[in-house]
Amino acid sequence: MKILSGSGSLVLAQRLAQVTGFPIIHREIKRFPDGECYVRIHENLDGEDIVYVQNTYPDTNIVEYLITIDAIRQYKIKSLVSVIPYFGYGRQDKRFNDGEPISAKVMAEHLSENVDRVITVNLHNSEILKWFRVPAVEIKGERAIAEYFKKFNPDLIVSPDKGSYERAKFVSEILGIPFVQFEKKRIDSERVTMETGDIDVKGKTVAIIDDLISTGGTIITASRILKDKGAGKVIVGCVHGLFVSNALDRIQMYVDVLISTDTVENPKSVVSLAEDIKNEIMK
Ligand code: R5P
Repeated sequence: MKILSGSGSLVLAQRLAQVTGFPIIHREIKRFPDGECYVRIHENLDGEDIVYVQNTYPDTNIVEYLITIDAIRQYKIKSLVSVIPYFGYGRQDKRFNDGEPISAKVMAEHLSENVDRVITVNLHNSEILKWFRVPAVEIKGERAIAEYFKKFNPDLIVSPDKGSYERAKFVSEILGIPFVQFEKKRIDSERVTMETGDIDVKGKTVAIIDDLISTGGTIITASRILKDKGAGKVIVGCVHGLFVSNALDRIQMYVDVLISTDTVENPKSVVSLAEDIKNEIMK
């Protein structure tokens, strides 16, 4: 097997190469002066099993993904596994209003063209898997985050909303500690309100788990409430750290520790999912 790394997943592809021992394919990716993407593979891939690792976020990575698949397919390869660490557009998984697309479906259908299998991580909604036109699986990043949380000895796990309930429960079971779920209401794309119920966090180390941090509105609100209630330390772990605009700086004003996995490369990508992806590839 050989690994082809997309420019949206360089670190994870490198880590995957380390844990599998598979070589990285020599390729070239650059931008034309007008911003369009140029891809060239500098090896003959005839007879090879290929693992292509590429995020489909932001949009520029989608174009790179599509044209790279074409570059790979000119060779008589044995198989092509597409690893999409962060599947963009997952949040538009239904028509919330008339006239809208089901973006997640469009993406799943197009990204599975000309590949044999898809491995992705923490989809916004697991139902999206059914829209891929080839066998597709979803790895859950919370197992690796739970392992990382152990070093901080948290007393309590918090789910900032209903969507992370199962995730928080899973992490709390691994750590053998209780969990609570907050009730979140979204005001707009950056602001939320939260109800915590009656909780006592005075002096405690509290770990919040979420699948995704985008603007940071969710995590900042939850962390601020926990600090106001006297939490000793607030630890935050997310699978996909998008940290749009100045989210990283803003979040760090309220939390003691912030970590994410390496599905989206950022300064907090300290938890690697390379082993989990390797295990799925080898199945
Ligand atoms: C919600 O469905 C997700 O689990 C995240 O809580 C949310 O997308 C985070 O977005 P933001 O960081 O902008 O609050």
